[in-house]
Amino acid sequence: MGKNGQAYLVGAISAIGGFLFGYDTGVMSSILEMDYWKAYFHNPGPTGVGVIVSLLTAGCFVGSLFAGWLADRFSRKRTIMTACVVFCLGAAIQCGSRNRAMLIVGRFIAGLGVGCLSMTVPVFQSEIAPAHIRGRLVSLQQWAITWGLLVAFWIDYGCHFIKSDASWRLPIGIQIVPALILFVSMIFMPYSPRWLVDNDRVEEAHKVLARLRSGGNMNDTEVVEELEEIKEAVRIDRETAVRSYLELLRFPIRRRVILGVLIQILQQLTGINVIMYYASTIFKQSGLSGDNASLLAQGINGVVNMLATIPAILWIDRWGRRKTLMFGSLGCGVTYFIQAVATGATQNKVVNADGSVDLNLPTGPSYLVIVMMYLFVISFAMTWGPIGWIYPSEIFPMRIRSKANSITTASNWLFNFIIGLVAPILIKKITWGLDLIFAIIMFAAIGIIYVFFPETKNRNLEDMEVIFTGSAWAYKDRKRIAEYDNAQHHNIDTKESV
Ligand code: BGC
Repeated sequence: MGKNGQAYLVGAISAIGGFLFGYDTGVMSSILEMDYWKAYFHNPGPTGVGVIVSLLTAGCFVGSLFAGWLADRFSRKRTIMTACVVFCLGAAIQCGSRNRAMLIVGRFIAGLGVGCLSMTVPVFQSEIAPAHIRGRLVSLQQWAITWGLLVAFWIDYGCHFIKSDASWRLPIGIQIVPALILFVSMIFMPYSPRWLVDNDRVEEAHKVLARLRSGGNMNDTEVVEELEEIKEAVRIDRETAVRSYLELLRFPIRRRVILGVLIQILQQLTGINVIMYYASTIFKQSGLSGDNASLLAQGINGVVNMLATIPAILWIDRWGRRKTLMFGSLGCGVTYFIQAVATGATQNKVVNADGSVDLNLPTGPSYLVIVMMYLFVISFAMTWGPIGWIYPSEIFPMRIRSKANSITTASNWLFNFIIGLVAPILIKKITWGLDLIFAIIMFAAIGIIYVFFPETKNRNLEDMEVIFTGSAWAYKDRKRIAEYDNAQHHNIDTKESV
C-alpha cells in the first residue's frame, strides 16, 4: 500500500455513506411504477406519491442540521455509526410497511440517517486527507452516490419481474446490508485527528496521523509538522472564538457560510435532480416512445453519471475548484440552451380527449435532446457533483466546521426538496422554458464563481484562514494570496538552508 494507502482506505470506507445516500434517493422512483406496490398502497395519487418521495428529503434536511452538533460532541466517527443505525431502522420500517403511514415514517427516519451521513462523511474525509489529495478523497463520496443511484435503478429493474410484494420490499430492505457494512467497518476506522486535537487527545491524534501518513512512524517530519499545525490552529481558535452557531453570522466566518450555502444551492440549481428524479418523463416528452426505451435511457444515464465522476476523482486536485466549476457551469449552460432551442423549435401540442394538453416532439430531434442531456450529466458529474461537497468541507476552521457544514448541507437538501416539488409542474407547464431558466442560472454561475470563490486546492485546512480573510472579491485577492505563498516558500527555503 502506498504512502497514502491508509488515508484512501479510510476515505473509501466512509464513502459507503454516499452509497446509502444515492441508493435511498434513487430506489423509490421505479418502485412507484410497480404494480404490486401500487396495489398494496391502494394506488396513491400525485399528492400521496409526492409525500412519500419528499419525506426522505425532509428527513435529510433535519438529519443534516442535527449532525453538526453530534459530530462535534461525539466525534465524526461515532456520528457516522449512529447514522447507520438510524438508517437501518428507517429502511426496516419501510421494508416491513403495513400501510402508508409506516412507509412515510420509515422514509423520514431513513432520511435522518442519510442527511446526517451527507454532512459528516465529507467533513470526516477532508479531515483525514493530506491536502494534496483532499479533493480526491471527498470525490469518493460523490462517486459512491452515483453508484448508489445506479445500483438502486438496476435492482429495481431486476425486482420488477418478481410477482409478489417482494418486488418492492426487497429493493428497500437490501440497503440495510451496506449500512451494516459501513457500521462494522467504522469500528476499525480512526477518529479524525483534528477532532482528537480539539478534544485534547493529542497523543491519539499523533498516532492516527502517523497511521494515515507514514505507516505508523510517529517521528516522520510531515506527521510532526502537521500535528503542530493542527495544535496551533486549535490554540488560536480557542483564544479568539466563541463556539456557537452565532459565530456563523459574524466576520470572518460569515463570508464562508455564504459561499458554502451558495455553492450547495447552485449545485441543486444545476437541475441535476430534475433528471435524476424525472428522467423517464423527460425522455417521453422528448419523443422517446415506449416504456422500455425510456427505462433504458434512464439506466444509461446512471452509468454516464458514475463514469463521468472518475475524471474528477483523478484530477480535481490538479484542476482546482474555481476553473472546474466555471467549466462545468459553461457545459451545463450550453447543453441546457441547446435543449431549450431544440425542444422549442420542434414542439407540437397534442390536445387530449379530456381537454388536457400534452407537449410532444417528433422523433427526429429527440435524439439531440437526449445527447444534450447526457452531456449535461457529464458536465455535472465532473464538476458540480463533487465540488458541491468538497468546497464546504474544506473552507471552515475546526471550531465551526461541522456546525457550518450542517447549515450548508441543509441548504442542499432544502433546494433538493423544492426542485423535486416544482420541477414536475414546470416540466409540464413550460417545458423548454425550464431548460432556459437553468441555462441562465448556469451562465450566471460562471460569473459568481469567478468573482467570489477563492481557490482552495492543495491548501492545508489550517491555511484557509489566510485565503478567506482578504477581500470578498476573490478575483482581486489573488495577488495577495500569491504574495503570501511566495513568503511561505521563502520561509521554508530559509528554514531548509539553515
Ligand atoms: C447531489 C444530489 C444528486 C447527485 C447526482 C449529488 O452531489 O447532491 O442531489 O442527486 O449528486 O449524482
